[in-house]
Amino acid sequence: MRRIYLDYTATTPVDKRVVQAMAPFFTETFGNASSIHSYGREAKAALESARESIAPLMGARPSELFFTSGGTESDNSALTGIVLAHSGSGRNHIVISSIEHHAVLHAAKNLERKGIDVTLLPVDEYGFVSPDELRKAVTDRTLLVSIIHANNEIGSTQDLKTLASIVHGAGAFFHTDAVQSFGKIPFSVAESEVDLASFTAHKIYGPKGIGALYVKRGIEFVPTFHGGSQERNRRPGTESVPLAVGFAKSAELSVQEMPEELARLSSLNKLLRKRIGDEVPGVVFNSPVDRALPNILNVSIDSSEIEIDGEALIINMDLEGVAVTSGSACSSGSLQPSHVIKALGRDDRTTNATVRFSFGRFTSEEEVQTAADTFVRIVARIGKRKKISSPAS
Ligand SMILES: Cc1ncc(COP(=O)(O)O)c(C=O)c1O
Repeated sequence: MRRIYLDYTATTPVDKRVVQAMAPFFTETFGNASSIHSYGREAKAALESARESIAPLMGARPSELFFTSGGTESDNSALTGIVLAHSGSGRNHIVISSIEHHAVLHAAKNLERKGIDVTLLPVDEYGFVSPDELRKAVTDRTLLVSIIHANNEIGSTQDLKTLASIVHGAGAFFHTDAVQSFGKIPFSVAESEVDLASFTAHKIYGPKGIGALYVKRGIEFVPTFHGGSQERNRRPGTESVPLAVGFAKSAELSVQEMPEELARLSSLNKLLRKRIGDEVPGVVFNSPVDRALPNILNVSIDSSEIEIDGEALIINMDLEGVAVTSGSACSSGSLQPSHVIKALGRDDRTTNATVRFSFGRFTSEEEVQTAADTFVRIVARIGKRKKISSPAS
């Protein structure tokens, strides 16, 4: 059976050009970047050159960027690094949106257990944060606001510059999780005026296990880990030069190819939206049409029209060769309804009946058509209609 991968938001295959760029740094230029002999100096030069090529692609200076193990570490370090560095400032309140990735959500919950006040900002039915709600939430005790740039489940993107000006007006720092946006849609720390931003390589055809955190020059920040003085004392541990080189190559390719990719993925998205909208009864689109990532289409089946089990839907899609994901997060083997879909105002059963299609560089139109055929067929087969309705337009 031919398999179709439509879960690019979870992770992407590494581009062969990236693998090629990384290869010499496993076996030839393998030194420890902290060693002072020639092997170490060569490794250090490759590491710094990776940083120098990534930084301008996101509007940062190389010295403002340090490598981490990925988006989760960057998000955790951003929140705890700022809270620890400013613990005596009298500001002990942080604000996050209700659709943050668990890496921010759970890091904030952990800080809450340690005495920090946390406010969760609501979003509208397409996942947009309202500037007025943010204005109401920030006070003179607010230290940090963290709002995801492009949401990983539904793809909605926030107007960071407007939100940043509100945060800065309240004298607080602004962090964004740019894990899903960097390399897919235009993103610049300078233009969006954020103070901290998180990135990872494996969402943009780079290797797993490397990411970066941007911390604007001059901002006090306490490292999460303690050890050697690598990464300007911000993240100890022997640096992975091959991963850094792979991250740089994947970022260069993604930014270079972005205009064509944006257009191609947007038209695939439109096609899938039209087919599902025309052919699946009771469908609710969770992804907005505008101000969204081009490569995600998140849909639910309205529980008042069709009764369908989300897990069965995903398993049946997989059995027919189409890999998509649900609106549930798997924690310790049990499926929890997605906090993101719930935040849009959906009831539990509709939230459960959610599918995220996400595509990318290697997805063809034919694959999208096959995925649509499969989805339409499975909903018709396993869904139980509750009332007669005409297909959504
Ligand atoms: C928005 C967002 N933030 C953070 C992460 C975590 O990144 P990583 O897998 O590199 O730890 C992910 C990955 O799923 C994500 O989509």
